[in-house]
Amino acid sequence: MNQDQMKKAAAEAALTYVEAGSIIGIGTGSTANHFIDLLAGIKNKVDATVASSIASAERLQKHGIRVLDLNEAGQLSLYVDGADESNHHLHLVKGGGGALTREKIVAGASKTFVCIADETKLVDTLGKFPLPIEVIPMAREVVARYLKNLGGNPILRAGFTTDNGNLILDVHGLHIRDAANFESELNNIPGVVTNGIFALRPADILILGTPSGAKTLKAS
Ligand code: 5RP
Repeated sequence: MNQDQMKKAAAEAALTYVEAGSIIGIGTGSTANHFIDLLAGIKNKVDATVASSIASAERLQKHGIRVLDLNEAGQLSLYVDGADESNHHLHLVKGGGGALTREKIVAGASKTFVCIADETKLVDTLGKFPLPIEVIPMAREVVARYLKNLGGNPILRAGFTTDNGNLILDVHGLHIRDAANFESELNNIPGVVTNGIFALRPADILILGTPSGAKTLKAS
């Protein structure tokens, strides 16, 4: 099984968490795309969805799946999304696709967060994958200096603008041990919109695609 097939296996296993008549949150990226395509096969089971990006909203709509604005949806029963890294506490690094702000909002509005990924995303320490940080454009250099003082090496994601009109700094060279505290510290930098650590609201369930099928983990 290649990496994409493992992503698909994880997405398929997440379908069992979809409750009849529910409104569910949908993430962004290639693994979330597999989930969207598989959800199309049971689309009458859900009432509606809330998307974490314009790209995911468009994909859902192409399948004829109803997409609501989060303001109209209230609390969601389920959020399904991929990740760039997860540790064994199910603290995540997300934002490789640049959708981290809306992802964090929708995850926070959901009762259960099921993260789907291939097994290569499980790590002991977060930070090998460069940490995405969404910043207000005028604060780019100020935030970059702050991140360098914290020991990181921020690189501007070239030619990329988020769905919210902002920039992404990808921070290399971090070893994130106390993920929740570091998430809070980064949130306090003026000009930071969102950082890609999901530890204050971690995943509840991690489904990993492996060569022998999907494996489900809870936080340890
Ligand atoms: C997008 C994300 C994605 O979930 C993350 O980048 C994983 O992507 P993929 O499923 O393509 O491996 O956080 O902002």
